[in-house]
Amino acid sequence: VLVVRHRMRSSGRWARAAAVIRELEEKAATPIGKLRQVADAMTVEMHAGLASEGGSKLKMLISYVDNLPTGDETGLFYALDLGGTNFRVLRVQLGGKEKRVVKQEYEEVSIPPHLMVGGSDELFDFIASALAKFVASEGEDFHLPVGRQRELGFTFSFPVRQTSIASGTLIKWTKGFNIESTVGEDIVAELTRAIERQGLDMRVSALVNDTIGTLAGGRYYDNDVVVAVILGTGTNAAYVERAQAIPKWHGLLPKSGEMVINMEWGNFRSSHLPITDYDQALDSESLNPGEQIFEKLISGMYLGEILRRALLRLANEAALFGDTVPPKLETPFILRTPVMSAMHHDNSPDLRVVATKLKELLGISNTSLKTRKVVVHLSDIIAKRGARLAAAGIVGILKKIGRDSAAKAGEVPRTVIAMDGGLYEHYTIFSECLQETLKEMLGEEASASVVIKLANDGSGIGASLLAASHSQYLEVDES
Ligand code: GLC
Repeated sequence: VLVVRHRMRSSGRWARAAAVIRELEEKAATPIGKLRQVADAMTVEMHAGLASEGGSKLKMLISYVDNLPTGDETGLFYALDLGGTNFRVLRVQLGGKEKRVVKQEYEEVSIPPHLMVGGSDELFDFIASALAKFVASEGEDFHLPVGRQRELGFTFSFPVRQTSIASGTLIKWTKGFNIESTVGEDIVAELTRAIERQGLDMRVSALVNDTIGTLAGGRYYDNDVVVAVILGTGTNAAYVERAQAIPKWHGLLPKSGEMVINMEWGNFRSSHLPITDYDQALDSESLNPGEQIFEKLISGMYLGEILRRALLRLANEAALFGDTVPPKLETPFILRTPVMSAMHHDNSPDLRVVATKLKELLGISNTSLKTRKVVVHLSDIIAKRGARLAAAGIVGILKKIGRDSAAKAGEVPRTVIAMDGGLYEHYTIFSECLQETLKEMLGEEASASVVIKLANDGSGIGASLLAASHSQYLEVDES
């Protein structure tokens, strides 16, 4: 077979590249009018999800958290945080209003990728074994009253249908986890069995999503926290709802009159979302096609992958990296979002960081400055679309709770959004764009009372606080 390669003439290549980029720009555009439609659709879906089970793509899960931390929590508590590529174990000695967090220690362990798609017991045994080791290293600065069992707050950052504060079944996996046998199972029972297999004596007293943990951790330090948002590997939000406004809740009305809702907004979708061919292909080739559409436009697991797909198309159709397509560019998820971020933030005049990353990661050397500029430009389109959509989602929540306009509120209450996640924390262009978009959408006056607070690993502390407020010894202590 004779393969004849026609060298595209340079001017033809760049014209083709420009056309491909223009198409992406148009399809991924997020003008303010579109963002308002997205925000409105979010509000509408929130109502639908609260009205009935299965009423919306937005699950609006009831967390069974109807009281957020007050500061009075005391004692030694553990937390375990599973939900991304790493998991964390944490212990904290809570000292009540005056002393707050007396001492805390944590360890982070990365999860071997094969455990994310293997068997349920393997994953939970791995976690419980790390937990057991961590417990064994507990020093004398931590105090557990004699005869008591250690208690744990379990942050499990996947959609769970809770049946109580300390039980709930997994609805589905997200973010690259895929373990068939866990779906539909009680997550606390799974973990408890694994803890027992380790011979560890510990009780799970709260099961929470990371958004719920972040909300609780945020509230512990700031009374005005009413919303929590995660922008990390995945994305999601939780907020404090009036129990009266949850038609699908048939339980007793909580004393506080409030209930925290885990929205699972990653699964939001709407005809108003700016979806490109790259997004469609990413979705259909993913572990969970048709699911988590909002998440796939916004979160850290996917931004780099969208960029890779756009670059691959330019390599194929416009010979962006020369006459052959760099083979590594064909590998899904090879281009991680932190690398994209590093290239996007490259301030050197000759885009040295971009050159180095392309070479190290994809084996592409000798790129021209023009080519490197294309990489930065594509990153800009993809990251800013994600940031602007996340802002629109937040505005949707603020609308639902009547905190989106200064006029409506009369005297303006301060609204604090507790934020966590590596994407927001480390991708500066992303987080700045999100903040600017919030301002743009809310207007100067209303946005002045909305504050985003980075709650770094708030969810671990939050889970231990909720373990404390749901401790089996609470009544003993209070009497
Ligand atoms: C995914 C999970 C969700 C979690 C979010 C952030 O969207 O489904 O439960 O809160 O990632 O970690």
